[in-house]
Amino acid sequence: MWANGRLVPAGAPTVSADDHGLTVGDGVFETAKVVAGRPFALSRHLRRLRHSAAGLALPVDMDAVRAGVDAVLSAARPHPPLARLRVTVTGGPGPLSSERGDGPPTVLVGLHAYQPRSHRITVVTVPWPRNERAATAGLKTISYADNVLALRYAHDHGAHDALLPNIAGNLCEGTGSNVFVGFGDRLLTPPLTAGCLAGITRELLLEWSPDIEERDVPMDELPDATEVFLTSSTRDVLPVQQLDGRPFDPVPGPLTRRAMRVFAARSAESDDP
Ligand SMILES: Cc1ncc(COP(=O)(O)O)c(C=O)c1O
Repeated sequence: MWANGRLVPAGAPTVSADDHGLTVGDGVFETAKVVAGRPFALSRHLRRLRHSAAGLALPVDMDAVRAGVDAVLSAARPHPPLARLRVTVTGGPGPLSSERGDGPPTVLVGLHAYQPRSHRITVVTVPWPRNERAATAGLKTISYADNVLALRYAHDHGAHDALLPNIAGNLCEGTGSNVFVGFGDRLLTPPLTAGCLAGITRELLLEWSPDIEERDVPMDELPDATEVFLTSSTRDVLPVQQLDGRPFDPVPGPLTRRAMRVFAARSAESDDP
């Protein structure tokens, strides 16, 4: 871990008990994939971090963030084959209320090895909507308790992950992923106005696959989907094999297979597309 300017062992205390990130969830974060020591799409992740921080009016020193990223990448030797780079910026120490303190933000950067998870997953839709009109819609804030509950709901219902609707009754995203839905030969993904995060994987896939349509998907049309996949930085393109108990066949479906192929080929061309 790198915390406010210095490297510390993972698990060492770094944040004070009155940190606004801890007391009220006032903060933003990024998670990027690191392959053999090389971060993927770091420029886009840092740009999104700046955007999220601006959305919360958090003054973030991007030079400090970059120094932290460089420090953990250099310290993590030998490089694990696959790791998660996490940058967290919070409101810093403050009074135990919604009011933010006057001090500088807390900046934390960590690197954690992970194993690639399953190659296909089951998902269920959850009853709680994402609020696409919230002040924090589209910002990658650290307030993930809704996501924690949605994921727990999925696990309690025998699924790996959850899909969330939005207030308007359209599909929004997964708990830590964007969602793409196939209807025959059409591939759709909810637009950012649906309240989903502007996922980097989603963004790249849209740039590399001009056929994909950004379009609202009403929740009541989901039963007609012929294939579904999720995207995220740590899982790339992940086929869904079952949605609300309904299996898809084949898995991955043809649109998913093409998206997986395009993403793998194009992302291999550059570490920082
Ligand atoms: C809520 C949410 N939506 C979408 C995504 C996917 O974004 P990305 O492709 O940038 O990882 C994430 C990633 O963590 C997320 O937390």
